[in-house]
Amino acid sequence: MRIVLVGPPGAGKGTQATRLAEKLSIPHISTGDLFRANISRQTDLGKLAKSYMDAGNLVPDEVTIAMAKDRMEQPDAENGFLLDGFPRNVSQAGALDELLQSEGIKLDAVLDLEAPEDEVVKRIAGRRVCRKDSSHVFHVTYSAPKQDGVCDVCGGELYQRDDDSEETVRKRLEVYHTQTEPIIDYYRAQGLVVTISALGPVDDVTQRALEALKRDD
Ligand code: AP5
Ligand code: ZN
Repeated sequence: MRIVLVGPPGAGKGTQATRLAEKLSIPHISTGDLFRANISRQTDLGKLAKSYMDAGNLVPDEVTIAMAKDRMEQPDAENGFLLDGFPRNVSQAGALDELLQSEGIKLDAVLDLEAPEDEVVKRIAGRRVCRKDSSHVFHVTYSAPKQDGVCDVCGGELYQRDDDSEETVRKRLEVYHTQTEPIIDYYRAQGLVVTISALGPVDDVTQRALEALKRDD
């Protein structure tokens, strides 16, 4: 399957993508995680991306599209992928369409995770991420690690993302409404959008997503 996951910051895209990718046996491709990996390796791309991310703005399309394309062309993505955080504006959606068309393939669904603003703000404020593996995501109250500041899965240090400050989160939400939400209409016109509520326990949301994607396992 080829799926795009969309939703406001903090809706639980990364949390759900990890689970769905495993259930559906497709790679989870997160442009946010790819940028953060470049930042920790201190690459030129990482240095460029950091200045935009810390301000809550989108990284320029040119570098984002090139990075996403490169990742989608890796052998593990040949038979499907779950895109998390890409595309993020109409121009990126157009670039993705062109790429897919050139390879004679199509998206199967765009899964839209809906969550109210007060909930996403709470989720982001309490989020802690593992330095060793960004798919290990915790929340200080909703899914607290057994030991404060230590990842349950690998023992790595848990940290708060630089762009999770209150001011940057407000900016990221504004960017989501003005630049990313229009892609939902873009894909609705192609009949691809399935919307589910992102509220409730993580496993319930996963089940809801699988049902919406017409999978029962
Ligand atoms: P990115 O990393 O994509 O961030 P985002 O879209 O803002 O989304 P988040 O990672 O904040 O949230 P999430 O929805 O994944 O939630 P999570 O699962 O962690 O992008 C960051 C930046 O990179 C952008 O601002 C931009 O600068 C740049 N960028 C990335 N892609 C780009 C692109 N295509 N173009 C240009 N720039 C780009 O969950 C949040 C918290 O809630 C966690 O603590 C989790 O444990 C908890 N939680 C999750 N589900 C539940 C639940 N059901 N109940 C209770 N708690 C829950
Ligand atoms: Zn870890």
